[in-house]
Amino acid sequence: MSNKVDVLLGLQWGDEGKGKIVDYLADQYDIIARYQGGPNAGHTIKIEDKTFVLHTIPSGIFREEVVNIIGNGVVVDPITLCNEIDGLKAIGVDPLERLLLAKKAHLILPTHRLLDAASEASKGKKKIGSTLRGIGPTYMDKTGRNGLRVGDILSSNFKNKYASIREKHLSLLRIYPEIEFDLVTEEKKWNESIERIASLTQINCEEYVNRAVNSGKKILAEGAQGSMLDIEYGTYPYVTSSNTITAGVCTGLGIAPQKIGEVIGITKAYCTRVGSGPFPTELHGDEGEELRKYGKEFGATTGRPRRCGWIDIPQLKYAIMINGVTQIAITKTDILAEFDFIKAATAYKIDNEITLEYPYSLENNKIEPVYKSYPSWEDRSNDQPLDDDLKNYLEVLEGLLNTPIKFVSNGPGREELKIR
Ligand code: IMP
Ligand code: MG
Repeated sequence: MSNKVDVLLGLQWGDEGKGKIVDYLADQYDIIARYQGGPNAGHTIKIEDKTFVLHTIPSGIFREEVVNIIGNGVVVDPITLCNEIDGLKAIGVDPLERLLLAKKAHLILPTHRLLDAASEASKGKKKIGSTLRGIGPTYMDKTGRNGLRVGDILSSNFKNKYASIREKHLSLLRIYPEIEFDLVTEEKKWNESIERIASLTQINCEEYVNRAVNSGKKILAEGAQGSMLDIEYGTYPYVTSSNTITAGVCTGLGIAPQKIGEVIGITKAYCTRVGSGPFPTELHGDEGEELRKYGKEFGATTGRPRRCGWIDIPQLKYAIMINGVTQIAITKTDILAEFDFIKAATAYKIDNEITLEYPYSLENNKIEPVYKSYPSWEDRSNDQPLDDDLKNYLEVLEGLLNTPIKFVSNGPGREELKIR
């Protein structure tokens, strides 16, 4: 009998606390693999009193015994990857011995970042609020069959391929407003970084992962962004350009659906979103400000303030359905402990009808979330039992979501986690 690939992913708009939970779970796995996204991700991990933010490297990198794979569904910016490697080395972690790079992963070029910025600038008020890391243009070149891949780095015509894509990008840029961008400097950094990552271990990801699963190795696929940013099922067009959902694990690592095991979905005890796009339970007044302040809700990649609101049950039910979630991890329960009462949207009211169904467009529909109020709880350290009010609330959520809540995280540290 073979093992399966477990999945850990975000159920909201990203920033649910994936990095912390992956880091915690990593010692139960042989391999941690990123399957999509790129340096738009910011996975924050706190070990003792030090905080690290990972953008491309999987969150298992702090465990010596764990192999970390950057899968074929990921888009890799060589510059960010080198910065991350250097950052880890500076704190005594040598990632090179336990980091593998899929040959089929696509490369982010400096001109992809330039195109991202120009495209956003041209959209004015309609901008996506992209992280400007070149994610969209790189996936466009991938599906447009123009992309440059990690496996090309060692081929003799790499430089020619690069030059021809660069030319195409520069012509494309003429349709956009001009953007300030030091292409010469960025290309110099990029070329130096390419030389460095040329010496990383490259793998045929699909072969490696299938061999590993069949030989009994335990694998955890680490999602980035969140389900509501999925290109297919998220709040399009305010989404990222990859499949952030469980289905993305199959394409992003090269494994069959039958090989998917547990799917751990992460949600905050409330909800946040960074960038533009619909957010039914967003709080615009004092409560939103308080959530942002207590929760330190500022982007790990861009530093932007995150939009904050109450937890949204119809939204979570939708994400649980799309992903086949088998267990939930809830994070930041300590932040809600700052309030006396908290709310959850248990349904939507659209055109005077109560519904639990996530609508086609959240932009055209006037959604009124239907809220229920619950007493908050006292935040307790991990050696104490959960406060009864929190326990009751978790049971309410489990009933509404029809899925067990297995992990409760009440702080950024490794030890601030309860397994139920
Ligand atoms: P892009 O993926 O950089 O093009 O950004 C598209 C949208 O997804 C923007 O609203 C970003 O703020 C959001 N986004 C991308 N990556 C993340 C993430 O890791 N966490 C939260 N939001 C993200
Ligand atoms: Mg993040």
